[in-house]
Amino acid sequence: MLFEWTDSPEEFAERGAAHAAAVIDDMPEAAIALPTGSTPIGLYDRWVERAATGEVQLNRAHFFNLDEYAGLPQADSHSFAAFLHRHFLDRAAIDPARVRLLRGDAPDLEGEAAAHDAAVAAQGGLDLAILGLGGNGHIAFNEPGADWNQGTHRVPLTEATRIANQAYFEDGFTVPRDGLTMGIGMLRKARRVLLLVTGVAKAEALAMLRAGRPDPAWPVTALIGHPHLIVVADSALRG
Ligand code: PGA
Repeated sequence: MLFEWTDSPEEFAERGAAHAAAVIDDMPEAAIALPTGSTPIGLYDRWVERAATGEVQLNRAHFFNLDEYAGLPQADSHSFAAFLHRHFLDRAAIDPARVRLLRGDAPDLEGEAAAHDAAVAAQGGLDLAILGLGGNGHIAFNEPGADWNQGTHRVPLTEATRIANQAYFEDGFTVPRDGLTMGIGMLRKARRVLLLVTGVAKAEALAMLRAGRPDPAWPVTALIGHPHLIVVADSALRG
């Protein structure tokens, strides 16, 4: 586990983008799982800038989303699919044929989860999982107590996560009660993991990771022992 401490939002975004770009340099056809939330926005901005100048070649990579709200069509502006289109995929003109996003409104969510896993498996598994961190230690929508061996599956969202995510919506939208998420088993198998952590709300969860004791009450601790885990975090969380 390699920690990189950053002193400003600019440096945070820059370091995250640089690590992710290095993976793409090594593996131009990398299969990459993408997060949603406020944390990765700076990274996406930098990728978009670099794709425009040719500094990073994103056009052979394959992109997947980590998670999605259950019940929402991708076209709904509140969906994670729409977020990824808005912040990254459309701006970087990523070929839709190289993108597989979960369909939260699929009539058969279990079948949809299995299709996501099959699409990842068809690329030989994940080369890079880019993850944010929840204040309760969640990674993607794997909440405290989650099974550590699963692939993509349906999950009930915790109240803590629903409240945290509600803050992004001021238009009367109510965060759904369920989600679809890549499971921890799948994320742990990613060849490389980039965990992005910013904000004091994440301090306790990050401290649990640093303590080095795997604990199902803190899903992020499932990453302890991963051979290629890089954590980019605020210096303010260094303690
Ligand atoms: P945030 O969410 O980036 O909006 O803080 C991270 C997460 O919950 O995974």
